[in-house]
Amino acid sequence: MLIQIPDLLSQEEVAQFRNELDNTNWVDGKATAGYQSAQVKHNMQLPESSPVAIELGRKIVQALQRNPLFISAALPAKIFPPLFNRYDGGHSFGNHVDNSVRRIPLTGEQIRTDLSVTLFLSSPEEYDGGELIIDDTYGAHSVKLPAGHMVLYPSTSLHRVLPVTRGSRVSSFFWLQSMVRRDAQRSLLLDLDVAIQKVGQDMPNHPSLVEFTSVYHNLLREWVEV
Ligand code: NI
Repeated sequence: MLIQIPDLLSQEEVAQFRNELDNTNWVDGKATAGYQSAQVKHNMQLPESSPVAIELGRKIVQALQRNPLFISAALPAKIFPPLFNRYDGGHSFGNHVDNSVRRIPLTGEQIRTDLSVTLFLSSPEEYDGGELIIDDTYGAHSVKLPAGHMVLYPSTSLHRVLPVTRGSRVSSFFWLQSMVRRDAQRSLLLDLDVAIQKVGQDMPNHPSLVEFTSVYHNLLREWVEV
């Protein structure tokens, strides 16, 4: 399931991020690619040890932790420290799948990548091309979102970034391990949670609300890994 999270960052925050990102040193994106994806990866990236990347990454994680839709959709257990990339001058990233396990550089902790995230930091008017194309059983989905918005998608998906033929596409990307490993189970829990929220707004005193909430938590209890 693909989930868009609008306005993770405000326009002021995006402007601050871009100011810092436009004034720092970038390296070849092959640095964090596996052997196979290095063959198709053509972009620039901030080093994982870059103080700018670490500081902005921390701000992104804080924004994620206070975003109810993200929490409900991802049920995050461990979030990889966000990385940053830039595509310009024809850069692209061919079809690939993300590594299944990643080691967090500073702590050595390993995470299973259940969900992949792209947070857009350039507005769509700033560049041509650069769509993130994600394949699933329903076909190929093209994603190009306003700055400050992000997309969550299963890390099992094949995906690619089309060539950027004008301007620059700056984004943050990272992975997370969910408390609920299976995409279908997470989708069900999100649907149920959203439905409970809607009923709660329309009929806040309905006695069945607590029963539905109980079903939500008991399903989560069946499936959760902590
Ligand atoms: Ni990828």
